[in-house]
Amino acid sequence: MPAAVLHVAEGVALPETKQLQPTYENPISTLPTVPEAELCDGSIPIIDLEALHGPRRSHIVKQLGHACQHKGFFAVKNHGIPKTAVNNIFDTTREFFHLPEEERMKFYTPDPNSDIRLMTAYKDEVENVFVARESLKFHCHPVEDYVNKWPTNPPSFRKKAAEYLTNVRKVEMTLLDAISESLGLERDYIEKRLGGHYVSLNYYRACEQSELELTYGVRGHTDPTIITMLLQDDVPGLQVLSEGKWMDVNPIPDTVVVHVGDLLQAISNHRYKSLLHQAIVNCEKERMSIASYCYPSSDATIGPPKKLIDTDHPAIYKDFTFGEFSKQMWKVITPTDKRLDFFKCSAA
Ligand code: OGA
Ligand code: NI
Repeated sequence: MPAAVLHVAEGVALPETKQLQPTYENPISTLPTVPEAELCDGSIPIIDLEALHGPRRSHIVKQLGHACQHKGFFAVKNHGIPKTAVNNIFDTTREFFHLPEEERMKFYTPDPNSDIRLMTAYKDEVENVFVARESLKFHCHPVEDYVNKWPTNPPSFRKKAAEYLTNVRKVEMTLLDAISESLGLERDYIEKRLGGHYVSLNYYRACEQSELELTYGVRGHTDPTIITMLLQDDVPGLQVLSEGKWMDVNPIPDTVVVHVGDLLQAISNHRYKSLLHQAIVNCEKERMSIASYCYPSSDATIGPPKKLIDTDHPAIYKDFTFGEFSKQMWKVITPTDKRLDFFKCSAA
């Protein structure tokens, strides 16, 4: 079931499936497009994760809550992922995407329930833009359940991917505990609801100058996740919508960017908002990013906890399970948090 998320995280790329006839919504057309966007290089909150384990924990938890509430994203430093693991995942991702096309295409499938799939770059007929990202998406938790589906070419792929993904999962647990706490919930509130984990190895080739105007890396979207951990290489490209403008989130060495996803928006009763973001391309250099997403188990309830509901803060969302959310996503496919509209309370 959660494998379906592998596809929808892509936003406008839709599966070739006969049974489902989704309604298409295209709210991104109302967002600024690349040429019109006014860019601002704003500040990004940087959270020191090591300090969560010391006497400053409650201060760091407050910082986290503030960043989730007012920005929808932040970066983490001192996260404990070894530098070698970071270098290795980029090396093996680069090697994979430099393989001949027929080798990469072994992972291409239109089946959204596949445990692993390659998304190729495509022309978006609806919006007349070229979406230049290629990505390899796969399930990865627990590693031993999925590792035998991963590429064996390059030969070091499985070892290097497992090393990074095991590390990033640990960081996510630490973060989710602190995020639960920032909402005034028990530390393990979100962790108890967790299911698996999947990853998208994103590759953006350097584009031709002539392509730039109508080319995106990936269109504006929110992620249908609790949180997303986005590891960027040293090439800029990520932008987030902040106060109505696209803001560059340039790579900061030794940090990982964290986004609030749709499901955290629901769990927090709309206190934390899922982040609208996109990636742009450039003509000079290829770019890679590793996005890891954690998702709840199918039967986990996602609606806002009683503790977050009172007369001043009525429930914005009904109780729903992640299974119901995944099913609903197939009916109205949208690249934004509008996926949650179906689960809103009628009063909201
Ligand atoms: C994603 C994503 C942005 C980037 O994979 O969901 O938003 O900078 N990636 O690669
Ligand atoms: Ni995303």
